[in-house]
Amino acid sequence: MSDDYFFNVKRKRPEELFESVLDYYTNETLSMYAKSKSIMRTQRKITLRALEILELKKNHFLILDAGCGPGFVSIYLDELGHKTIALDIISGFLKFYDIKDLNPILADMCFPPFQPSMFDAIISISALQWIYKDSNLKKKDLVLISLFKSFYTILKPKGKVVIQFYPKNKTVLDNIGDIIAKNTNFNGNFIIDNPNSPKKRKIYLLLKKE
Ligand SMILES: C[S@@+](CC[C@H](N)C(=O)[O-])C[C@H]1O[C@@H](n2cnc3c(N)ncnc32)[C@H](O)[C@@H]1O
Repeated sequence: MSDDYFFNVKRKRPEELFESVLDYYTNETLSMYAKSKSIMRTQRKITLRALEILELKKNHFLILDAGCGPGFVSIYLDELGHKTIALDIISGFLKFYDIKDLNPILADMCFPPFQPSMFDAIISISALQWIYKDSNLKKKDLVLISLFKSFYTILKPKGKVVIQFYPKNKTVLDNIGDIIAKNTNFNGNFIIDNPNSPKKRKIYLLLKKE
């Protein structure tokens, strides 16, 4: 990403309109999301691209799906032969489909309840914007610091993280980059697919534990 790359999403996103993710995903919105075949197809495409970015050398890795929702990503990872643990903060999502083989865990991904050096990789699809959204700046920094420090701790050495999300503008990327650089030993970079198409643009953050 060159230094002069810039974008700014004008349309208000749900995370700007709702105080908390728990307020947005009520029974109705949750069920609409979970039943949507087109969202499922999109999330599977994003997962495939995330795996390409991770460059995992073989299957059978243990992967954490952080912010798994109804499990579109976890189910796909499982089909591809990876051992997956699905984590979300909303219990209704974890119960929507029968994903008990995917070890669903009800928890906040900023405080993941796992032992150090447990995962080969962490994938988080379309969730980070909810964590970034917090309007109280100080609290936002604290939860993001906790998120990235925790991810660093629970990854095995040489483990990798890929996060796809919907930032509002380039400043968000700069802030997140600063927080990671100041608080963890991750190496990483942003990867932007279709950078000049607001509709097709997809933003990924790749982090590597050396
Ligand atoms: C747009 S959905 C994406 C779900 C899933 N990753 C997918 O690709 O279909 C965003 C998800 O992030 C979850 N989420 C948001 N903040 C979270 C947090 N702090 N901890 C765990 N999950 C969180 C929400 O509950 C919701 O399931």
